[in-house]
This record gives sequence, C-alpha cells and structure tokens, in this order.
Amino acid sequence: MCTTALDIKRVRKTFTRKERMPRPAEASRFSVRRRIKKEAVVALKDIDLHVPKGEVFGVLGPNGSGKSTLIRLASTLLLPDSGTLEIFGHDVEKDPYAVKRLINRVSVDAAFFKKFSPIENLMYAARLYGLPPSEARPRMKDIMWRLGLKESTFRQPMEHMSRGMQQKVAVARGFLTSPILLLLDEPTTGLDPHSKRDVQAFVHEIRQSHDATVLLTTHDMEEADRLCDRIAIIDDGRIIALDTPEGLKTLVPSSNGEKTTMEDVFIELTGHSFEDAEAENEEGT
Ligand SMILES: Nc1ncnc2c1ncn2[C@@H]1O[C@H](COP(=O)(O)OP(=O)(O)O)[C@@H](O)[C@H]1O
Ligand SMILES: [Mg+2]
Repeated sequence: MCTTALDIKRVRKTFTRKERMPRPAEASRFSVRRRIKKEAVVALKDIDLHVPKGEVFGVLGPNGSGKSTLIRLASTLLLPDSGTLEIFGHDVEKDPYAVKRLINRVSVDAAFFKKFSPIENLMYAARLYGLPPSEARPRMKDIMWRLGLKESTFRQPMEHMSRGMQQKVAVARGFLTSPILLLLDEPTTGLDPHSKRDVQAFVHEIRQSHDATVLLTTHDMEEADRLCDRIAIIDDGRIIALDTPEGLKTLVPSSNGEKTTMEDVFIELTGHSFEDAEAENEEGT
C-alpha cells in the first residue's frame, strides 16, 4: 500500500466570477440589458503538498484563501486547471472511482434528508457505500454516542435538530464508512464550545485508534494546534508556511515572556486576526 495519502503537485485552480454591471443611468428599465463582468479568480496558485499516511494535517487560512477548493479538488468534486493530485497513488482525474472509495468528505454545508432521522440518513449512506445494515447499525450508534449525540435524537427528524447536532451527524456519516482519507472542511465551524470539544475529541480518538489520515481545514487556531501533526497556513491561494505546530511557533518570537500561540503565528504571517476570520464566517462570506 502506498504510504503517501495525498500528493499534490503544482495544482492551480481558477474560477470565473460573474458580476452584473450597474445599469447606465440614462438607460430605460426595458431597453438595455445589464452587462455581465467576468473576472478570473485564482483560488489556488500552484500548490505543492505531501501528506503521509496516518497524519492529521491541518490547513489554516482566512476566508477565501482556498481551503475548501483544496478539499473539493482532493474529493474529485472539482478538477484542477493544471498540476496533479493523487490519493494513495490514484490520480483524481484519471481514476476518480478508486479515489472515491478511499475518501469521505465532511463539510459545513452537508446535505441531509431533513424529514428523516439521523439513523435513516446514516443507513442510506451506509447502503450507498455497500455497508451491510447489521454492521452499519451498531457502528453508527457507537459513533453518534461518542460524538455526544443523545439516544433520544437518533430517531427524530433532522429538521428538528439544532445546527450543531446536524453537524455532528455529518461527522458521524463521514466516519461511518471508515475512509482511509477523511477530508474535513471546517467540521467545527458554528458549533457551540461543548460540541466543538466533542468533535475534536472524536477526531483525536480516531487518530489514535484507526489507521486513518485526516485533512482538516479550520480557522480555529487552537483546534489546529491541538489536533494536527502538521499545519499548512494558506493565504490567497498559496501555502505561506508549513510545519509542525511547534515548528510554526518558532517563526514568531515570544513577547513579554509569554509563549507564542498559533494565533500569533497566523496574525504575523497573514496579517489577519482570528476575530476577523470568525466574524467573516458568521456573516457567511
Ligand atoms: N464556485 C466558485 N465560483 C467562483 N469563485 C469561487 C468558487 N469557489 C470558490 N471561489 C473563490 O475562490 C476563492 C477561494 O475560495 P474557497 O476555497 O471557498 O476559500 P476558503 O474555503 O478558504 O474560504 C475565493 O475567492 C472564492 O470566492
Ligand atoms: Mg471554506
């Protein structure tokens, strides 16, 4: 088995952003169609990344820096303009089906059948992945229990659950099929502190007990510090630093005798503060 979970070579991804131009003042409401302005946005600028099997690898970056694009490329949802991505030796473009069997993605915008319960949604996912119900049922209950979801919620419609609880079900679904590469796109964004801890503890535990590799994006500095073996800080589509949490902290000298935190590193390297990222995220940008 290939010991490299994720191998990214010079990957570039551009999007076209379309914007409607304002209507000229002299134009009547009916006569002139508004022009559409097209603008190229380079979301990832020739990224190189090598994640060995078994690592929890964090991608930290401000909003719009390219984190989700990276995750979506690794999960075959997007194709790169140039460069290559391989998951355990399988090219995402040439061999997407092999890649899909090895990965699972959890994102903040997870979709569910809202009228159905967590158990029903997870059973559906299990069936899609060819997991027998007799195996899936105890496994999903165990995962949901470990994530701190109460048994009483297992059978109620998802639409009656809080966003935090729905997010936990999304995480449970991600782990249900024991993917060997788990792609977690901001799995704890928007969760209350307690739920956040539950999800973090679960990722930590999985890391200890399973052979899984985890690629995790977050804008929570402390989370990255605590959970990740190595962290890449990305800004404006480029990796601007990559090291272990301790290694990154050596980049910024401590001030007033206080230990350097991951937040200090982030602010120093990107010029953004942690509050910026949180606030922007709450606005849904
Ligand atoms: N489907 C898309 N169409 C147009 N622009 C996009 C699309 N997806 C992402 N972008 C742009 O690419 C950049 C990176 O986005 P994204 O990867 O979502 O960042 P992050 O997850 O770090 O917040 C942003 O400028 C964003 O607006
Ligand atoms: Mg994102």
